[in-house]
Amino acid sequence: MRIVRIFDTTLRDGEQSPGASMNVEEKLQVARQLVKLGVDIIEAGFPIASVGDFEAVRMIASEIKGATIAGLARTKFDDIDRAAEAIKPAESGRIHTFIATSDIHLQHKLRMSREAVLETAVSAVQRARQHTDDVEFSAEDATRSDQDFLARITEAVIKAGAGTVNIPDTVGYTVPEEFEELIKHLMNRVPNIDKAVISVHCHNDLGLAVANSLAAVLGGAGQVECTINGIGERAGNASMEEIVMAMKTRPKFFGADVRIKTQEIYKTSRLVSKITGIVVQPNKAIVGANAFAHEAGIHQDGFLKERSTYEIMKPEDVGIPQSKLVLGKHSGRHAFKMRLHDLGYELGEADLNNAFEKFKHLADQKKYIFDEDVETIVSQEVSKVPEVYALLGLSVSSGTYVKPSATVRMSSHEQPIERTDSGDGPVDAVYRAIAAITGTKSSLLKFDVKGITGGTDALGEVVVTLEESGRPVRGQGADTDIIVASAKAYINALNKLEIRKLK
Ligand code: KIV
Ligand code: ZN
Repeated sequence: MRIVRIFDTTLRDGEQSPGASMNVEEKLQVARQLVKLGVDIIEAGFPIASVGDFEAVRMIASEIKGATIAGLARTKFDDIDRAAEAIKPAESGRIHTFIATSDIHLQHKLRMSREAVLETAVSAVQRARQHTDDVEFSAEDATRSDQDFLARITEAVIKAGAGTVNIPDTVGYTVPEEFEELIKHLMNRVPNIDKAVISVHCHNDLGLAVANSLAAVLGGAGQVECTINGIGERAGNASMEEIVMAMKTRPKFFGADVRIKTQEIYKTSRLVSKITGIVVQPNKAIVGANAFAHEAGIHQDGFLKERSTYEIMKPEDVGIPQSKLVLGKHSGRHAFKMRLHDLGYELGEADLNNAFEKFKHLADQKKYIFDEDVETIVSQEVSKVPEVYALLGLSVSSGTYVKPSATVRMSSHEQPIERTDSGDGPVDAVYRAIAAITGTKSSLLKFDVKGITGGTDALGEVVVTLEESGRPVRGQGADTDIIVASAKAYINALNKLEIRKLK
């Protein structure tokens, strides 16, 4: 059976989800897990976009073996050279260069003629080929481009040395039948198409990204670009787990296979959700909390008699663990480390020691420790940033008889400061005190609080999104005391803003 390559863009397009930006260590954790999952290509970032992006791509290229590492570049030579430098250490590296091909983009964004775009694309591919043999070209907004022009530019970039030509549905506009036809049209019309792999990259604005990607596979696409949990720009990208499980569940229909180890899917989904702070909706196919839960009596009855009556995949096929109870206060460092490994985290000695200490502390407060608790502890270790501000302590007074007030003690630039404030509720009072201590100009965009596991002793996790100078930043905090968790999340986000100012 022919193999369709999986090109994962969680670390590039996925990271373009509002508030989902990841630091280098977070990206490395995800990249390591993507290799275990068996993806063929990891698009690690857009090196010219920022120093942080460059460093992340370079680190991933240096450290990650077993997958091709791609860096994105516009057709500008500076972009291409920067991407080349970033992917240089990779065992196998790819430059992915793109320019828009639709008349809408040509007229309003690029202000270029079709001929100029074609020439620019060819020169970009030639320039990229001076750095590596593995070059991918993307015709941005391909689905709204003139089909003859698309065929012409595809032929030209293949001739210039592109081994992969990507046909993105940049704005999520196409529908499955039309997209399958477009891919077939290119397969039939482009004379040198046998020298390249046709790739697709679908956005989910109409909720059709997965359906369109699968239709393209039927049309002959040999590579699919997608993200874990479908995260990405606007409504997101095609969700990898859905594409993979559709192909695995209906192999004869698609006549194609993927190299993905499906048992790693759930773990990867959890890891990406924890690290980006983007929660997976409960009814999400494949990885949602309810994806394998049978609620209706008739369904339960049928399922108990014969699983296949209501189940087309088994939870174990995607690696959903049978038992979620993990560790307790007597568990040792080795068991903790093994559990982290099973959950997809690989920590260095120092981070492991810190995480283990936090685990022991939690185990003293809470009888049962679940996978979700461990993930919360460890994702904080992975996401930690140098601390300009730190919480030293707090106390609150609140309830129905008093006006909520809070006293917060923090260190700010290594100086201890204390401040008391009042507010509409205890969190509001704490946040006012922190804002006064730090003098922050940021505004709070989002505040989410959730219990990690059941029970009143559960670890509470708070995720906040702040905005300063038009760019959002996300902070996380967890504690068995929800007010403390809220303070930690706010301070974590403020520290990230401070780091950003230094860059
Ligand atoms: O959506 C898009 O067109 C892209 C390209 C850069 C591939 O993300
Ligand atoms: Zn995209």
